[in-house]
Amino acid sequence: MAETLYIPTDADKAKKYEAILPQIEALISGEADLVANLANIAAVLRTTFGFFWVGFYLVKDDQLVLGPFQGPIACTRINLGRGVCGTAWKENQTQLVPDVEAFPGHIACSSASKSEIVVPFSKNGIVIGVLDVDSDQLTDFDDTDQIYLEKLMSILEKTI
Ligand code: SME
Repeated sequence: MAETLYIPTDADKAKKYEAILPQIEALISGEADLVANLANIAAVLRTTFGFFWVGFYLVKDDQLVLGPFQGPIACTRINLGRGVCGTAWKENQTQLVPDVEAFPGHIACSSASKSEIVVPFSKNGIVIGVLDVDSDQLTDFDDTDQIYLEKLMSILEKTI
């Protein structure tokens, strides 16, 4: 397992994603434990981009339950179809939210959170969790984040 992470400091967002995706793949491909892999992914994303909150919710029975994350304490349980995470789970589709206040049913775990992107991931075609990234700035995520975070979840799906 790689112990050090190489992050280009003078690169744009896309180049940073290009640099970390193969490193994450190397980091998680030899490890079968999902929680261990999610914990390392959250750490790499936080270290690389300084996200306000980045982490995972995992489907357990009929709810999303808080998993490994980096950032302030967060809501522990989210129902299907509730908020941004529950919608990503229900629709099995990435939710790119430039202003969380404008998202119907948004769950405010932190009043500092202003924009958000949530990407679901699956096993055998069934959603088993979501990646949630929150920013304290409005409109902080765009198509570049969506493309690379979806690629990242495809890499994760190969390990589960
Ligand atoms: N805002 C999210 C809840 C999770 S936290 O932000 C960490 C939502 O509406 O799903």
